[in-house]
Amino acid sequence: MTAAASPAVAQQLDERVSAAVREGLTARPKRLPAWLFYDEAGSRLFDAITELPEYYVTRTERGILLLASDEILARAAEGARLRIVELGAGSADKTRVLLKAATEMQGAVLYEPVDVSATALEGARQRIEREIDGVTVAPRVMDYTHGDDGRLHLGPVVAQERRLVVYIGSSIGNFEPHQAAKLLRRVRAGLRTGDGFLLGVDQAKDEATLLAAYDDAAGVTAAFNRNLLVRLNRELDAEFEPEAFEHCALWNGTRSRIEMHLKSRGAQRVHVGALGLTVDFAAGESIHTENSYKYRPGQAEALLAEAGFRAEATWTDARGWFAVCLGRAV
Ligand code: AVI
Repeated sequence: MTAAASPAVAQQLDERVSAAVREGLTARPKRLPAWLFYDEAGSRLFDAITELPEYYVTRTERGILLLASDEILARAAEGARLRIVELGAGSADKTRVLLKAATEMQGAVLYEPVDVSATALEGARQRIEREIDGVTVAPRVMDYTHGDDGRLHLGPVVAQERRLVVYIGSSIGNFEPHQAAKLLRRVRAGLRTGDGFLLGVDQAKDEATLLAAYDDAAGVTAAFNRNLLVRLNRELDAEFEPEAFEHCALWNGTRSRIEMHLKSRGAQRVHVGALGLTVDFAAGESIHTENSYKYRPGQAEALLAEAGFRAEATWTDARGWFAVCLGRAV
């Protein structure tokens, strides 16, 4: 996930933050986009979430990759050399299993992690190159979620190579379905026929398991949610009292998503200095801060197909809680 950005990206980010906060806090119902979670503290809190006993997502996906990496890579490569791109790489911790397997398969591997955070990428580069022999890391500082020409710019590859774009960790789940479809189409437009796309999606499951994962006993997810207000206080001179908002996670079965909200404990008025904005909250009124979509079997494959990939294979854990799907650009 993201932390500090390079100067050019940082300025764009400041503008995006202001625009998103103005839009979201004047909307009915109020909302803030989930990408705002990932300042430095938010990224650390997210890393802590991935280790929580209730947050099965990261460890379940890792278990699948531990068992299936060799097969995934062999199917993606079909005898060619693979170059691995990871979208939203952050610290790249979730990709180590794949990278190790790639070095075993082909000796050396070029790994291109993409993230908006130059700091996170540099940390990842140093750690991966130190710890996994044979991996050369070529980071790309880029906001892969935005771009005007409908295409993700990944740069040239040599003729004998294939790209495998990796988008794991259930990051796709934080996009609205139409945005997810658009993102996959952009990725496809940046690839050549035959290249691969590896997508990790969290599956719908019993409500109690889902709710616990997003409202853990230690309160780490609550702190992650409230940190958004701390960020607005710091970056936009806002005057939120984070504890005046309750962390709420709920399951929306109709839309197959976990929703996170920050619910105002009482009626209050909050000033956002940098925006010259005053926001009134009624008691119980909430800011909708995140959707985490949970996929039904077959849904990820359909999404891949709509974007111009042939769904080649899907790997799941024994409980069917998480799925990793390999698509090939056709
Ligand atoms: C990053 N993303 C996949 C996480 C998720 O599960 O939707 C973010 C998160 N929100 C609360 N806990 C974790």
